[in-house]
Amino acid sequence: MSNIFDEIERDDTKGVVIFKDKKPLDHRFLPEKLVHREEQIRQIAKYWVDALNEVTPSNVTLYGKTGTGKTAASKFAREQLIDAASNKNVFVKVEYIRCTDYTTEYQVIAQLCQKLGRDVPNRGWTKGEIVNTFRDIFRTNAFGKKLILIVILDEIDILLDKDGDGILYTLTRTDNVSVLSISNYLDFKNLIKSRVTSSLNDKEIVFPPYGADQLSDILTERAELAFNENVLENDVIPLCSAMAAKEEGDARYALDLLKNAGELAVYDDSQKVTSEHVRIAKDRIEHNKVTDIIQTLPLQQQRVLEAILNLTKQDEEISSGKLYDEYKEISKKDAVTYRRIFDFINELELLGIISTNTVSRGRGKGRTNIIKLQCNVNLLEDTLFSI
Ligand SMILES: Nc1ncnc2c1ncn2[C@@H]1O[C@H](COP(=O)(O)OP(=O)(O)OP(=O)(O)O)[C@@H](O)[C@H]1O
Ligand SMILES: [Mg+2]
Repeated sequence: MSNIFDEIERDDTKGVVIFKDKKPLDHRFLPEKLVHREEQIRQIAKYWVDALNEVTPSNVTLYGKTGTGKTAASKFAREQLIDAASNKNVFVKVEYIRCTDYTTEYQVIAQLCQKLGRDVPNRGWTKGEIVNTFRDIFRTNAFGKKLILIVILDEIDILLDKDGDGILYTLTRTDNVSVLSISNYLDFKNLIKSRVTSSLNDKEIVFPPYGADQLSDILTERAELAFNENVLENDVIPLCSAMAAKEEGDARYALDLLKNAGELAVYDDSQKVTSEHVRIAKDRIEHNKVTDIIQTLPLQQQRVLEAILNLTKQDEEISSGKLYDEYKEISKKDAVTYRRIFDFINELELLGIISTNTVSRGRGKGRTNIIKLQCNVNLLEDTLFSI
């Protein structure tokens, strides 16, 4: 019997015409330089340089929409600092924590203790015990020389939302520890109490969305590493860049487009990647994104979406009141309250499936929230009714 892996490997070799090395198109790939982020990296470095003089650096917060290079820039700055520290023979550690993996204060502190060589359990101790163990590392000068620790808390919104701001309080009140927080929301300070804001006293660095030309530079660099020479038709990178610039300047999306377009070319046995491949890739990505999100939504939220879908098809302007009426029709007896619907609307907006816009109805008539679908009607319908 033939082996399934042999078959797949044989299929895979078809890709050598198009791809030289697919890794550089992966999200986790860290390029040797980050074009158009020199300024932000320099700013991080300006704060962190204190560590090289054995002074605890200021806390820093990076803000910016998705795919604007925050994670990449912070990892880049980390590598550079570690390099510089080892040359100067100072003891600096930079630990990267993704708060989607470590979602509570306990988990983060335990993880930091473990990285610093303390044998602590992943659960079971009190918060006090774990925090004391962590602080002890600095108090007792455990390594025989002064340690400065920088903690990168990536996607911190998730941790703050789930477990409150205790983590920031603990870290900012530990000697020799500096925090670099990364957030998608400019108003993330709303999740923090004022006593924490004051001990955080952070320097803020904003990552603006990339424009089409900047995305094109980013893609060109990656394409040189990933694709064989002359396989990309000339309009491929400009098209990917223009499409991603429309998606709020998201470099991850631009890379996804390029990679998917390349894969489609392989699938077609084509010698070239064309703009048509990019267009199909766009549909495919949109399709997967929307269907993934919708399929994993809780039932009540799916019903809210169904209500929005019905009203959209009737060409109605969708106010929250109208939406609630339609939703009640669908849910019948187990409908949730009007207030809960607002939470659902917010969540759906965060996921990018709908948008809302507050309009004034004129003097004395107050303001109304108008809801609009932001994904393809047919795609939504197909997905909702195939679940
Ligand atoms: N200036 C750049 N040069 C080269 N590659 C970049 C640049 N900016 C972003 N990228 C690449 O784009 C992808 C997304 O970037 P990154 O993960 O840093 O975004 P982010 O701001 O952290 O997004 P999110 O908020 O969704 O986490 C990564 O693969 C990254 O390597
Ligand atoms: Mg990130």
